[in-house]
Amino acid sequence: MKLCCAAQLEAVRPRLQVPLISVGCEGWTSNEGSFELQEETNMTRRQPSLERSYDGFMGDRALDLINEHYGEGIDIYSLWAELPDVLNAWWRGFENVPSHPAQLHYAWLNNEDGTPNGLGLNDGIRLATTTAIEQLELNYSKPIALLDVGCGVGGTALQVDLCLQRQKVRDYEIHGISIVADQVKLASRRCRKLGATKSEFLIGDCLHLPYESSYFDGIVAIETFCHIPPEDKLNLLQGCVRVLAQGGRLVILDGYVAREPRTADEEYWHRVFRNGWTLPELITAEEMSNLAIESGFDVENSFEGSSQVGPSVKLIYRRGKYIFMPLLRIYRLLKRLGHDSRLLQRTGVHTPNAEAFLQAGSAQKELAERDMMAYHVHVLRRPMYAAWPLSSQPLGRKL
Ligand SMILES: C[S@@+](CC[C@H](N)C(=O)[O-])C[C@H]1O[C@@H](n2cnc3c(N)ncnc32)[C@H](O)[C@@H]1O
Repeated sequence: MKLCCAAQLEAVRPRLQVPLISVGCEGWTSNEGSFELQEETNMTRRQPSLERSYDGFMGDRALDLINEHYGEGIDIYSLWAELPDVLNAWWRGFENVPSHPAQLHYAWLNNEDGTPNGLGLNDGIRLATTTAIEQLELNYSKPIALLDVGCGVGGTALQVDLCLQRQKVRDYEIHGISIVADQVKLASRRCRKLGATKSEFLIGDCLHLPYESSYFDGIVAIETFCHIPPEDKLNLLQGCVRVLAQGGRLVILDGYVAREPRTADEEYWHRVFRNGWTLPELITAEEMSNLAIESGFDVENSFEGSSQVGPSVKLIYRRGKYIFMPLLRIYRLLKRLGHDSRLLQRTGVHTPNAEAFLQAGSAQKELAERDMMAYHVHVLRRPMYAAWPLSSQPLGRKL
């Protein structure tokens, strides 16, 4: 059974059996002029306000930053949809706009060969989820339990839940976990309101998955591992092995470094990018595969999706430059004149992270143009035998 909700998605579904772990991302290049980080943001290279990225083990500071980024910054993310839905969400709130994808990941807008797949932004965002779910190869004739690690505001769960309902699949449950309380509350509210009756969400640290061993038939992690510091990724992978049933798959969609910075500028953009999106040090896709093997997974498939998500990079940049930046300026001007616009606050312009977020969109474009980033899909399978000691206790650090 196919999970695609729209015939349109089915028609453009990329070929998925691409056996490679490689770098290079032609699809991420752009000929547009970039807007100057310094000019647009008042951030000089001599005095960079880079305080939001973090290194090392997740300490309180890192968790606070993520909470701030995704909690207070929820409104900024409502920008990631087709424009009528963006306006609607700002006006009426995420949960009142069913057509808003409410997913915080890149859209798949190109085919593997870099040609446009013809989808609009909303469907491009949903295609990423469809791709992940299809790679799980679930058997829908049996009861199914799915986990979305780092579930954001629940858009993935909602898409899958409604789709399974339409496909008349009865025996399934979908669980999502995020460390950000505001996201989980919004995800629960939105799913309840929009009819995703079998989706449940928990506030928790995915390094300490609060689920029974061998419970899930499939796990997706869409752009969540990037938030986990390198030394903790193995821990998260081991946690996923533990909660997956034998033969179950974990599908990871994420961004990676394709090469190290070579110049001071490249180093700078890297830091601005990590800073604005509150990221620890990133690893390569190949390092991810090695960690997966170390944790006990079989790497069933690993392929690059840089071409597919390439247009997202340009779109994020353009939305920042032509929509968010003008709004930020208007908001600040009004504030200087003594008016703290509640309406504009709904766009996230007032959040502490707004400016750094904007800078990251620009820095990301610079990195992509230099082939410094790559996007990958990893399909990992828990072997049918359990040859390693499976802890009955969740692995990882307590929240
Ligand atoms: C880029 S967002 C992706 C959200 C969602 N997967 C989607 O595609 O819409 C990253 C998500 O990872 C979550 N996250 C980051 N670190 C986490 C942790 N230690 N435990 C649980 N969730 C975490 C964030 O709260 C956020 O929901």
